[in-house]
Amino acid sequence: MTRAVCPGSFDPATHGHLDVIERTARVVDGVVVAVGTNMSKNALFTPDERVGMLMEECAQWSNVEVTLFDGLLVDFCAAHGIDIISKGLRATDFGYELQMAQMNRKLTGVDTMFLPTAPQWAFVSSSLVREVAMLGGDVTAFLPAKIAAQTMARVASRNAGAATDV
Ligand code: PNS
Repeated sequence: MTRAVCPGSFDPATHGHLDVIERTARVVDGVVVAVGTNMSKNALFTPDERVGMLMEECAQWSNVEVTLFDGLLVDFCAAHGIDIISKGLRATDFGYELQMAQMNRKLTGVDTMFLPTAPQWAFVSSSLVREVAMLGGDVTAFLPAKIAAQTMARVASRNAGAATDV
């Protein structure tokens, strides 16, 4: 039984993320979507919120579970019987993703499988989605409908808070 981890920040999870999770779930027996708890100052959602949002989206796949993780990804893999790390790869990610894959393999021998990002999502990243949303742009095309609504609501409440700050 082969188990893969799809790790990430997922702040928020995009169509590109869900596409990689679905494609991974087709080629391995079990997938663990692991939401990193390292909070950036610009995070839109808490790690628990991201887990909840991903659980709802991933409920359609019977072999996918979602959980939080912290610390080293290779330690998470060892503790959870994970055989392989699965990641989507955009052209812009290649150098850093290769470096992380090689570091992880050196640390414990766990290997990384790269899936080329679907062309229609190749330009989409969570950080760009956050930026566009915070500046009033429409991000609904890049996110599952419920996550898009939650993102717009969170941005609206952030911007309302910022407007009352002096
Ligand atoms: O969605 P992101 O922000 O690109 O996800 C990055 C993540 C969480 C997958 C990556 O930062 C990670 O693996 N962090 C865990 C800490 C770790 O193992 N660092 C060493 C990497 S070689």
